[in-house]
Amino acid sequence: MSLLSFPDPSAMALSIRASALVFEDPNSKKLLTRIRLLAPSDVNVLIIGETGTGKELVARHIHALSARRHGPFLAVNCGALSETLIESELFGHEKGAFTGAITTKRGWFEAASGGTLFLDEIGDLPQAMQVKLLRVLQEREVVRVGSHTPIPIDVRLIAATNVKLEEAVLAGRFREDLYYRLNVAALNLLPLRQRPGDIMPLARHFLRFYGQRLGCPETALSPDAEQALLQHSWPGNIRELENVIHHALLIARNRTITPTELNLSTLPLRERQTPAGTAPEDLDRVLESLCEKGGPDLYARIEHALFRAAYRHCNGNQLATARLLGLSRHVVRARLIQYGIVQRNEKELLSNSVKPSPAPSKSRRSLSNSGATPSLADWLTPETAKSEATQDWWGY
Ligand SMILES: Nc1ncnc2c1ncn2[C@@H]1O[C@H](COP(=O)(O)OP(=O)(O)O)[C@@H](O)[C@H]1O
Ligand SMILES: [Mg+2]
Repeated sequence: MSLLSFPDPSAMALSIRASALVFEDPNSKKLLTRIRLLAPSDVNVLIIGETGTGKELVARHIHALSARRHGPFLAVNCGALSETLIESELFGHEKGAFTGAITTKRGWFEAASGGTLFLDEIGDLPQAMQVKLLRVLQEREVVRVGSHTPIPIDVRLIAATNVKLEEAVLAGRFREDLYYRLNVAALNLLPLRQRPGDIMPLARHFLRFYGQRLGCPETALSPDAEQALLQHSWPGNIRELENVIHHALLIARNRTITPTELNLSTLPLRERQTPAGTAPEDLDRVLESLCEKGGPDLYARIEHALFRAAYRHCNGNQLATARLLGLSRHVVRARLIQYGIVQRNEKELLSNSVKPSPAPSKSRRSLSNSGATPSLADWLTPETAKSEATQDWWGY
């Protein structure tokens, strides 16, 4: 009797998934440029995006563009591993290390040697594992469960998350030091509804891809169907679009897909996918819980997180960050420098015109005489933010 065996899942994923990437929207083109810049270096990358936005595909693309492309690409979903298994899965175990460890086993880090390890849903990693992962990244060696001998590893790590890790850091659920280790370079994948220029190219891409797989004659979308796709909010992002097209091809009776054949979800956008934190009571709740927890430098931590999140949201564009926060660009730049998010340029180094701020509690008038950078409290109200004084104060 012959046994049914499944192919290696990672190899299968690579062969089945579309290798062609669609990046047509101006926002996606910018992202692609950034991916091409980051890929050849060996830095850890953190990919942030809602489910179905293409995080794994982007991770594979980075691997394919890197010097490690001939090595393995292994994808592990941290949320899918039980807390008891995760350590031995990631770092391996020795024979007899625990009940059921009948053989010595290499972990994912060792298996990915010479290649890339993709840790999906990194925000789900239990706290105890976060400490161990940080150690592995710092020392570049793993210790198998049941052993004391470190084994050197040669792996590029790409982590992905669909939750805002900053919020998890602020809430004390994710280690800040690990966050910085992972976040050497961040890629923010926008939801499909924020890159509408990708919808039709992706739809046509999936029509071709699944059309070929299903052996369908060439099929097009009716103008009404195109409109329906463009107007949909896509809570499931690209994965949802892929499924909609696949399904439509299966049930289409002729070569043109009409709106009735599009099985568009009626799921509302999830709460965290709506403009997050805009409800004042949400913000109050978060701030209250942070105050309860206390800890050192609470004010600076919040301000730091705000600037980091805004800057990342704006894909590293300082002007856009300033507009988003309602601050002057100079104020934003000073803060980004102060928090080490950007470096001073040569001119600033020479003139030393951007100075770090003192304690944030002084009034703006007294600050304006002190030569210090204004801080969050000084600019929280829009009137203050837009004030001409901001410019004067900076002497620009
Ligand atoms: N830019 C893209 N071009 C073509 N297909 C894409 C693109 N981004 C994502 N996909 C497809 O959408 C689906 C979801 O992508 P995936 O990387 O699994 O998303 P995530 O990891 O963010 O949930 C996959 O089938 C993938 O092939
Ligand atoms: Mg995924």
